[in-house]
Amino acid sequence: MQTIQSYINENKDRFLNELIELLKIPSISADSAYKNDVLKTAEIIKTSLENAGCDHVEICETDGYPIVYGEKIINKDLPTVLVYGHYDVQPPDPLDLWNSPPFEPVIQKTELHPDGAIFARGACDDKGQMYMHVKALEYMTKNDELPCNVKFMIEGEEEVGSENLGIFVANNREKLENDVILISDTGMIAKDVPSITTGLRGLSYVEVEVTGPNRDLHSGLYGGAVANPINVLTKMIATLHDDNNHITIPGFYDNVEHLSESERAEMAKAPFSLDSYKKALDIDAVYGEKGYTTNERNSIRPTLDVNGIWGGYIGEGAKTVIASKAYAKISMRLVPHQDWEEITELFKSHFESIAPDAVKVKVTPHHGGQGYVTPIDSIGYKAASKAYEQTFGKVPIPQRSGGSIPIVSLFEKELNSKTILMGFGLDSDAIHSPNEHFGIWNYLKGIETIPWFYKYFTELKK
Ligand code: BES
Ligand code: MN
Ligand code: MN
Repeated sequence: MQTIQSYINENKDRFLNELIELLKIPSISADSAYKNDVLKTAEIIKTSLENAGCDHVEICETDGYPIVYGEKIINKDLPTVLVYGHYDVQPPDPLDLWNSPPFEPVIQKTELHPDGAIFARGACDDKGQMYMHVKALEYMTKNDELPCNVKFMIEGEEEVGSENLGIFVANNREKLENDVILISDTGMIAKDVPSITTGLRGLSYVEVEVTGPNRDLHSGLYGGAVANPINVLTKMIATLHDDNNHITIPGFYDNVEHLSESERAEMAKAPFSLDSYKKALDIDAVYGEKGYTTNERNSIRPTLDVNGIWGGYIGEGAKTVIASKAYAKISMRLVPHQDWEEITELFKSHFESIAPDAVKVKVTPHHGGQGYVTPIDSIGYKAASKAYEQTFGKVPIPQRSGGSIPIVSLFEKELNSKTILMGFGLDSDAIHSPNEHFGIWNYLKGIETIPWFYKYFTELKK
């Protein structure tokens, strides 16, 4: 019987080349100009699942982009692992900050990745991490090492809110029945500090529009006498945090889960260097909510951030104008027990209430989702922990992440399943940013670790 390690050694060039082909297709779900590319990517995923040994693969149409579903059921009495991932990617902008074109993958060595990393949009989030599961399945089916049933559900709308996946899941409970959900779409602390993500933050995303006068005005003739929507919007936004960087929206913290001192002490044990953190971002100081550490601020505490703000004249030179409108996109990251729809309502009524009479305010909710935390005493967590121990030689650390995968809480609600987040990315992989990359070492380590999860999960489930 061939071991996973020798299988990887023999096939790693092919594993890399297949991923590179996948990364060449710009499957940008947010931009309709790329519709055909997104659809083409779904077809490639379908073929790759067939080649990896799934018995049945289908493209499930939705009102948006399709979901690729595949399965290999070897024995109905054995446990079933449901793998989730996404084949869509974020837009690559700003293009001029990329060192190589985002959809022409290149392998380059970096300080953290002496074996090389693949640079391309989606390399880590999530094509590279999703494809590790396809290759792990290939190993297991070709070597008679698949110990249980497996189902794959790979969607094309994660980066735009997974709305249609939510409907698909609610309508296909039986088809998706499983004993555990396995996802690689998060990160780990460091290459020598394996970790398993035990929490994700929720999200409420809104867009605001502030309207002053009915047309753009000469800033000399009217300046000082009418409300400037940009001045007003920035002033309103500035009041959303107080001097301690607490969020000022009434009721915002009402349901926030508070961690005990011992839980916080446990969290603080995870290796973290503030100096390296500052150095990596080229900042002189960190900034955030008073009373919390950096790791707490970006995982167990809720936040409010402006993601984009625009209005007025931004062309070359100077134009003296008071714009009629100003806009901002605002995200709030939420923690357990905060309900995203409730928070969206709180934001809306507060934001409307603080607007001066001289302007009109419109708040438009975008997407959102609930946060998630998973216990570390479940069979799924134990199996994952043993799998990492096997391939990294170290027990992984549980870690709550600041990012969001809103569909995970829905899986729990609709399918009654726990999700295990086995991520192999690093914070420095620049997901959503220019020069996104994924270490070759991380990619192959993921492929190596995943089959152990199946083995231990099946054993522990007996
Ligand atoms: N894979 C990320 C989420 C992530 C990354 C979680 C790293 C933890 C660690 C996912 O693709 C993502 O980007 N999610 C969005 C939310 C979504 C609704 C657009 C996010 O977190 O901004
Ligand atoms: Mn992702
Ligand atoms: Mn993403």
